[in-house]
Amino acid sequence: MRCHEVIRMGVRELMDHLEWGPAPESDVLARALLAERGRDNGMYIDGRWVQPRRGERFDTVNPATGEVLGTIPQADDHEIDMAVAAARNAQPAWAALSGHERARHLYAIGRAVQRNSRILAVLETMDNGKPIRETRDIDIPLVARHFIHHAGWAQLLDETHPGQSPWGVCGQIIPWNFPLLMLSWKVAPALAAGNTVVIKPAEATSLTALAFAALCDDAGLPKGVLNIVTGDGRAGALIVEHPDIDKLAFTGSTEVGRIIRRATAGSGKGLTLELGGKSPFIVFDDADLESAIEGLVDAIWFNQGQVCCAGSRLLVQESVAAAFHERLRQRMGTLRIGDPLDKAVDMGAIIDATQLARIGELCDIGVEDGGTIWQPEVTLPEQGHYFPPTLFTDVSPASTIVQEEIFGPVLVSMTFRTPSEAVALANNSRFGLAGSVWSQDLDTALDVARRIKAGVIWVNCTNRFDANSGFGGYRESGFGREGGHEGMTAYLRPPTSDSPSDSASNAETGSVDVDAASASTNGAGRVKPGVIESRSVLSRIDRTAKMYIGGKQKRPDGGDSLTVMGPSGRIDEVGRGNRKDVRDAAEAAVKRCSWPTMNGHQRAQVLYYIGENLDARRNEFIRRIVKMTGCSEAVAEAEFDDAVAEWFRWAAWADKHDGRIHETTSRALVLAVNEPIGVVGVVAPDARPLAGLVRLVAPLLAMGNTVVAIPSEAHPLAAIDLYQVLETSDVPNGALNIITGLRSDLVEHLAAHDGIDGLWLAAGDLAAAQAASAGNMKRTWFADADASDIERLRQATQVKNIWLPHAI
Ligand code: NAI
Repeated sequence: MRCHEVIRMGVRELMDHLEWGPAPESDVLARALLAERGRDNGMYIDGRWVQPRRGERFDTVNPATGEVLGTIPQADDHEIDMAVAAARNAQPAWAALSGHERARHLYAIGRAVQRNSRILAVLETMDNGKPIRETRDIDIPLVARHFIHHAGWAQLLDETHPGQSPWGVCGQIIPWNFPLLMLSWKVAPALAAGNTVVIKPAEATSLTALAFAALCDDAGLPKGVLNIVTGDGRAGALIVEHPDIDKLAFTGSTEVGRIIRRATAGSGKGLTLELGGKSPFIVFDDADLESAIEGLVDAIWFNQGQVCCAGSRLLVQESVAAAFHERLRQRMGTLRIGDPLDKAVDMGAIIDATQLARIGELCDIGVEDGGTIWQPEVTLPEQGHYFPPTLFTDVSPASTIVQEEIFGPVLVSMTFRTPSEAVALANNSRFGLAGSVWSQDLDTALDVARRIKAGVIWVNCTNRFDANSGFGGYRESGFGREGGHEGMTAYLRPPTSDSPSDSASNAETGSVDVDAASASTNGAGRVKPGVIESRSVLSRIDRTAKMYIGGKQKRPDGGDSLTVMGPSGRIDEVGRGNRKDVRDAAEAAVKRCSWPTMNGHQRAQVLYYIGENLDARRNEFIRRIVKMTGCSEAVAEAEFDDAVAEWFRWAAWADKHDGRIHETTSRALVLAVNEPIGVVGVVAPDARPLAGLVRLVAPLLAMGNTVVAIPSEAHPLAAIDLYQVLETSDVPNGALNIITGLRSDLVEHLAAHDGIDGLWLAAGDLAAAQAASAGNMKRTWFADADASDIERLRQATQVKNIWLPHAI
């Protein structure tokens, strides 16, 4: 052996056995700040520090040591009222500032964060328990980036979002896992858009939010523009229920997200929800396995796994699974756990005893369910809340620890053989927040990235975030996006084509006055429930009393019919749909339906063809509209022509709703792709029963959704006539399903059905529908007749951001 080889080996061995010494970050300045603020923190309301009227307070504790860092006030209705009133009062003047003036304020805040970044990072680590390396290098720099980036949106708003206006007062509720970062994700776009804010940090981590308020105060932010209230879920609930808040944004658990969805149902408030996840981390056998191991460390042990988009489900290709697990165990053994202020520590403390206990309980369930648990031999600090990095193998896809969000440093691992199996396992979750795909084969990586149902996909990387890239989920991970163009849109009321002065359409997704919309029918037609037809409709029904499900005309499950009345009396009968019909239609819309796999050009051709075939039956449809509604022939002609034009309009859009490529601070292409929502339920208005229905279903179909539609309750016959047009227009079976009947029978079933991913309502009980939609957190939109094409396209799609890193 040559001399230099001996030396090299010696150095390597030496490196292997070197112990890491402590490298603590100084907390002197952060402690001085805490001392200066005093033990009993106040809330920041209307530019003043306010103490709680009832005097209720609680301790805020350093999770790494148990040390009490101070006390936090519990806001009650008095303080929440004060904060909302201050925000309301300040909003017109804030919105009236020029974009440039708001930009200067946001930029000043961003610079203030940069200037105070070290003290904020230390304070965050002390309050939250996450490693200083993360707060110093990730959280706080991203906070500054968010404010500076959104200064840009404020400056450019008139150009980038013409005709849009702020919501008004925004109520925002954030969790404890990224305290100041989540605040910046919420506050920066809200202020940039001209809204004012009442925000509540999580009860465990209020300190950096209060320090931030002081920075904003120093930076000259007008009073009332930003109000910070503190307290637990009770204070959060007061914000949610406050009648004078226009838009709510929440990040946290799916359970609380559901409560908020129900509490705001029908209120017309804007709503974005960023909820939990159980994100897949997929490793193919051709991946750069060493990089994938490091990626996995970032995916699941970053912030002790207390990350909504944590890569907590490892799916590794069977051929490399044993070797990968072995290498992973070695790497887990080198993770350093301990004092989060130590710059050499990889994993800090869990937020509190409750969360620690929950992680432990879920691990116990995993073992009881037959999983094999592995943890490295580590010595955990005696004080504070710590949990070792944990790997579960031998788990089944249905087991609790594979399905539930553990929100801790616990990875569950399964294997797969083929890309399709990987996709099936990845999508076997009620969540859809993020996913990570590792393969050196770009074809495989991008194919799988497109097929995973999630709002963010990282290819050969993980946990990348940027202010200019939207973040948010599919399915029960919530709706709405935060960051970049998509996030700005959530803080602005959508423009309408005619901008009616009093319509309050809701960006979530939304609501206007549904009753007013329903009442706008001409009242000439009426459907009577089939009380007098107590005989089974099946014995005597004619062909019209059918549904259109899976490309076939089907008799209503219940065998009941409804009499359709025109201005001159009874004109026909239609089937009365029930829950089973909704279920059959939802199944037909998913099963074997080729529509979602067709490209935009193919979809366009079908939509043009529908328009063409409809046009060929002009006289028949016009007669039908006149007979149903009693309108004049000229009015019916205009409606018919609009219906034909609508099919052409959405055929035109089918291949033109392009996504974007986001400029981020990473060396990566970030592809923002507009994807269909899935199966969307549609409730059509009574007004303009043909054109009104087409204006809802055509945009959804154009974007690749499949549809279960309830046509006008009063005038359903034009929809029934449409069956034959659909049958002759190459519409794939199941793409558009139509169920006639009473909205009171059907809407809640549509809203509650887990196989339906979204809901567009132009009539019906919006409040009940939104409350029922909380089951699978489906997106709901009050389909305002005046909504622009762009807004319809936005509501018909959800954005998936795919990160593709590159070397240069
Ligand atoms: P949480 O969802 O209860 O708390 C998040 C925020 O909501 C906090 O500010 C809290 O005060 C507020 N809140 C609680 N109840 C409320 C209500 N009824 N109305 C309005 N606001 C309310 O989350 P928690 O209890 O801190 O953690 C429980 C579990 O939630 C964790 O184990 C984890 O699985 C999950 N979680 C998920 C997060 C994510 O980003 N996906 C973040 C935090 C927790």
